[in-house]
Amino acid sequence: SAAEKGGYEHFMFKEIMEQPKALQDTISPRIKDGRIVLDDITLSKEYIDSIDKIYIVACGSAYHVGVVGKYVIEKMLRLPVEVSVASEFRYMQPIVNEKTLVVVISQSGETADTIAAMREAKRLGARTFAIVNAVGSAIAREADDVLYTWAGPEIAVATTKAYSTQLTAIYLLAIYMAQHMNCLTQEQIDRYINALQTLPEHIAQILEHKEEIQYTASLHYNSKSIFFLGRTLDYAVALEGSLKLKEISYIHSEAYAAGELKHGTIALIEQGTVVVALCTVKELFEKMLSNIKEVKARGAVVIAVAEEGQTAIEQEADHIIYVPHCDSLVMPSEVVVPLQLFAYYVASLKGLDIDKPRNLAKSVTVE
Ligand code: G6P
Repeated sequence: SAAEKGGYEHFMFKEIMEQPKALQDTISPRIKDGRIVLDDITLSKEYIDSIDKIYIVACGSAYHVGVVGKYVIEKMLRLPVEVSVASEFRYMQPIVNEKTLVVVISQSGETADTIAAMREAKRLGARTFAIVNAVGSAIAREADDVLYTWAGPEIAVATTKAYSTQLTAIYLLAIYMAQHMNCLTQEQIDRYINALQTLPEHIAQILEHKEEIQYTASLHYNSKSIFFLGRTLDYAVALEGSLKLKEISYIHSEAYAAGELKHGTIALIEQGTVVVALCTVKELFEKMLSNIKEVKARGAVVIAVAEEGQTAIEQEADHIIYVPHCDSLVMPSEVVVPLQLFAYYVASLKGLDIDKPRNLAKSVTVE
């Protein structure tokens, strides 16, 4: 009913709008006296010091959280991170032992491949750390440690608030480990914690500008194919933006690391092809401007996402979505929101069954 949907037309939209609160609920109980405190987590300092590799294993959007997680954890902790989809991990004879922390991420906690991958990791001697939304689910029960995302029930098949709270759980875990590993200064830790605490407010600001994204969607909802480009963290978010779009709008879409464009995808750019260019990674901003020029020269229409103040983008892109300034490591949490809204509005303009897209299930409990 409309009431269940909070007065909105779809659960997906309600869940997008709930993100500031979901993030707040996931983050704030874990910050005490300026430190990350994870109650019930049993990772000891000795164990943390012994870890030589982190493996992140998940499916779908939760896997995309893992791709962001690799960049974040390697940058913060200088510890190698591998990311794998669970259905591959289980069959690839992964190199995992007592010194590997295997982080499994799952909204439902019931995804068959993720459960099987976690069991395989345990069998190989790894410690398992689960980031889960559904309390008491199979993964939550079986993992050595559980860090819950407090997103609340998610009804729409296409995940939004579960993805964004999973991302904050990764930041919480990374900062928590950093506190034990002495690899960051107190000032850096304070800065990351502060960046996390400001996220709900920033996301609320992005949501206030939703009509601009709706307008952009109204110009492009008939596209046959839409490409998402980005570098490093922006590339990780591009994967999720592209998946959201194809899941609910049925528009063909690909995410590409922008530097790889020349090695294939650029062949598909023709007059009017829509390219969403994520340009929020400061050190790579100029490189993204060059990529935008390259696709524009072949006729692409470019929608750019950039950080407020990066006005040089206005010379290159056709439409620009600005997101608030924040610490670069937490930027993915902001960038994903306009992409969720874009996918939502495109599907809505096409009149599709947004909450129950064809062929997809909320939780894939069979192999
Ligand atoms: C399905 C859902 C996705 C989700 C994936 C993993 O494909 O449609 O939204 O990301 O499963 O689900 P999980 O519950 O393990 O996070």
